[in-house]
Amino acid sequence: MNKIVLSGALFAGLLFTQTAQAGNVQKIMGSQDCASCHSVDQKLVGPSFKMIADRYRGKKGVVKVLAQKIITGGGGNWTADTGGMAMPPHPGLPLPQAEEIVKWILSQK
Ligand code: HEC
Repeated sequence: MNKIVLSGALFAGLLFTQTAQAGNVQKIMGSQDCASCHSVDQKLVGPSFKMIADRYRGKKGVVKVLAQKIITGGGGNWTADTGGMAMPPHPGLPLPQAEEIVKWILSQK
């Protein structure tokens, strides 16, 4: 009985953590302009988040590199998909928050 209660609590805790993380990322992205050029599964001006996840998922050091690219902007990695558009910089976005966004993007399947 105690075991059931405990694992139930653990499960609820896990769920809560994931929802809180996704909610937090949504809040950060909501304060930025990402959605005007990106969606989860459709290419807009920029590649979709699923395209980005497919290309980079599991690659070493990629969270920091992509977070920095969001902050400083730039192009050249998706020319075939974007016709050479560059992403504008987001200098007001702190690195830890950019990293949180990238982790969320890379979790899209
Ligand atoms: C004005 C349009 C625009 C906005 C706004 C924008 N992006 Fe982008 N994004 C792009 C384009 C275009 C690319 C492709 C750049 C390239 O070819 O290297 C891109 C690429 C990316 C990449 C992949 C970078 C790489 O080197 O592969 C990530 C991650 C990303 N954007 C996240 C975001 C996030 C998060 C936001 C909001 C903070 C955002 N973008 C806002 C247009 C935009």
